[in-house]
Amino acid sequence: MAAEVLRLGVLGSGAGSNMQSILDAIDAGMLRAEIKVVLADVKDAKILDRARVRNIPCQWLDCAPYKTKLDGEAEQRCIQILREHGCDTVVLAGFMRIVKPPLLAAFPNRVLNIHPALLPSFPGLHGWTQALEYGAKVAGCTVHFVDAGTDTGPIIIQHAVPVLDDDTPETLHARIQVEEHKAYPEALRLLSEGRLSFRGRRVYIQ
Ligand code: GAR
Repeated sequence: MAAEVLRLGVLGSGAGSNMQSILDAIDAGMLRAEIKVVLADVKDAKILDRARVRNIPCQWLDCAPYKTKLDGEAEQRCIQILREHGCDTVVLAGFMRIVKPPLLAAFPNRVLNIHPALLPSFPGLHGWTQALEYGAKVAGCTVHFVDAGTDTGPIIIQHAVPVLDDDTPETLHARIQVEEHKAYPEALRLLSEGRLSFRGRRVYIQ
């Protein structure tokens, strides 16, 4: 099946290892996509360095006065930048803010997120620590479409990992991240190949 070449806008706040996994999948010919622009709400986020190394347009997005959401003037600027770069899909890659309805309306069913837990368990911050403290025996990651809730959107794929007796938050997060780096490119590949469809809030993979 001929795949659509996704034109990705990436939003992040941190290290950018998930964005790197997407770049690696593109380089390996496993994903037909191009990262058109990278935006970070943290001025010195490493994700911006990763973009600069690849000559991908990138910039800091000042989200003041809000601390936990992308709203108001910053959101409008974000939408404008994504549009200026011709993005058709928005990838939240470690973006630690809640996105609001205007961004979702600008890219309908085209905003994706990766969450470091098996949703609907452990939404919000530090999903791996929540799983560990709860005593879960299985943890993992979820790639999902974003809706107006917090980590509530339709699930595309999930990868599970075991929780080991001697895990710390760091070791568990590292094990989950290994799976994140497979799951995000895989979900994007399914999207680019037109293999995702909705029935209600369930996402079917053809
Ligand atoms: C990832 O583990 C991602 O799942 C998580 O932040 C990390 C970012 O890593 N995202 C969230 O917690 C979102 N609520 P990265 O910057 O190396 O991709």
